[in-house]
Amino acid sequence: MPSHDVLIIGAGLAGQRAALAAAEAGATVAIMSKVHPVRSHSNAAAGGINAALNPEDSWESHAYDTVKGSDYLGDQDAIEIMCREAPDEILWLEHRGVTFHRNETGHLGTRAFGGASQARTYYVADITGQALLHVLYEQLMKHHAAIDRYEEWFVTSLLQDAGGHCVGAVARNIRDGAMETFTAKGTILASGGAGQAFKPTTNALICTGDGIAQAYRAGAPLMDMEMIQYHPTTLLENGFLITEGARGEGAQLFNKDGERFMEKYAPNKMELASRDVVSRAEQTEIDEGRGVGPDGQGILLDVTLVPKKRILEALREIVNIGRDFAGVDITREPITIRPGQHYIMGGVKTDVEGRTPIPGLYAAGEVACVSVHGGNRLGANSLLDTLIFGRRAGAHAAARADGMPMPAEPPASRVRDEEGWIASLLQRGPGSGRRVSEIKDELGEAMNRHCAVFRDEQGLSTCLDVVRRLQEEARSAYVDDRGTIFNQDVLGAIELGYMLDCAEATLLSALERRESRGAQFRTDYPERNDDEWLRHITVSLGASGRPELGYAPVTITSWQPEERKY
Ligand code: FUM
Repeated sequence: MPSHDVLIIGAGLAGQRAALAAAEAGATVAIMSKVHPVRSHSNAAAGGINAALNPEDSWESHAYDTVKGSDYLGDQDAIEIMCREAPDEILWLEHRGVTFHRNETGHLGTRAFGGASQARTYYVADITGQALLHVLYEQLMKHHAAIDRYEEWFVTSLLQDAGGHCVGAVARNIRDGAMETFTAKGTILASGGAGQAFKPTTNALICTGDGIAQAYRAGAPLMDMEMIQYHPTTLLENGFLITEGARGEGAQLFNKDGERFMEKYAPNKMELASRDVVSRAEQTEIDEGRGVGPDGQGILLDVTLVPKKRILEALREIVNIGRDFAGVDITREPITIRPGQHYIMGGVKTDVEGRTPIPGLYAAGEVACVSVHGGNRLGANSLLDTLIFGRRAGAHAAARADGMPMPAEPPASRVRDEEGWIASLLQRGPGSGRRVSEIKDELGEAMNRHCAVFRDEQGLSTCLDVVRRLQEEARSAYVDDRGTIFNQDVLGAIELGYMLDCAEATLLSALERRESRGAQFRTDYPERNDDEWLRHITVSLGASGRPELGYAPVTITSWQPEERKY
């Protein structure tokens, strides 16, 4: 039975950064992931990573932009830490081999990104997340003596001792179906978001809310779950991401009348207003009949305004995506896009060291809510969040583990119970209920219809009814693959339960927040209402086994809420 000082679940950027920080602090570390680490969803943060590194920029300016972007729901103490530590993190990455873009003077070059008052996004073409993942993975291998890697292992639940402390996890080896317990003094969830609860989404198939639901089931509160980011530029056909880097390089948005409509909604920042503002503008154009495409559900993104040489140098990945998935050469003609689900600002409530209220349980990255993004995340702040708070969680968990005894091994019945549960799931057939994949599709479509850019009480309530029916149906749902070798089907059944928990928390929070702020625009409450709602909404699993809502104060240090204009 493996035991480590620190067990990290998820091997994207937050997990890998946590592992390196914990190992450098002298801890024994295990990092576990349901996919190979370089296939993690951090790949999708294509356009870059923010930091106020130029002498004419300042971390205070970055922090103010982030606070304003969050629609004043972000906790300013945490935002200050993230923005102050950002420049050193970029240099740390550079020194480890990330080939950030350099400008004509040979210095690190930046591109503009949404909601930022300065061009402070550092990048590697439009594959920044991928470039970072590969460099960190090299570092993990370098530290192989201190870091055990469990690749293609799937966590089914967290382990807790009699006092409720988190002492590791139970996991299934995807290669052969074997179950095992992993004890640890500290466990860091770094398993990403829950975008697959929406259809379509920019998120990878692996983003199924596993860590959010595992923490919630263990008793940790979730926070800001109503705040779902719709990215302004996703492919009309299938929701694939077209990076914000395109607009950062000069691409513009047009409606069917050829109007550059952002002039009406954000006359100063235009296409580089914050994501919630741009997505709402696009959706308004579509809803009012000025969209393009077969059902008028799209908007034109014109990348041809960027010089071709620059497109091929800085945006080559979306050239491929346009060609392969929409049949469009973006160097020659506009491409049709629409707002699409991209990110969840909410997650497991943590402090700035990544601690959850459950002793021994940490969270970092999209699975967590520190909350640095509040109501709306700025583009290129997600890679930064993963690295800063991944590092801090890893260092803290290592320090906490120092001198602490290893938790007792759990009883063998713990694994047997989970094996029995999976075996019973595999025994179900078509006679028992619906196929797991059908339920997942219905969930995603309902969330995308009712819990998207614009929301109201009726739609949210209808969607909650759907989710609660699907929760019932999931109890008897069946899968087709009954084998043990790489059985992704059975993992899909477990993931469905995780996504349904996340969707329920999102809908309850969205119904509760009777105002419009950041990504939550309630057509029945169209104004921001600081008197009543300048506070976080939390969701915890109550003693009755039902979700319970609570509130947490927003931390304000330097920036009082004001009207938000771009
Ligand atoms: O558009 C993008 O490149 C996405 C970046 C992000 O979400 O931070």
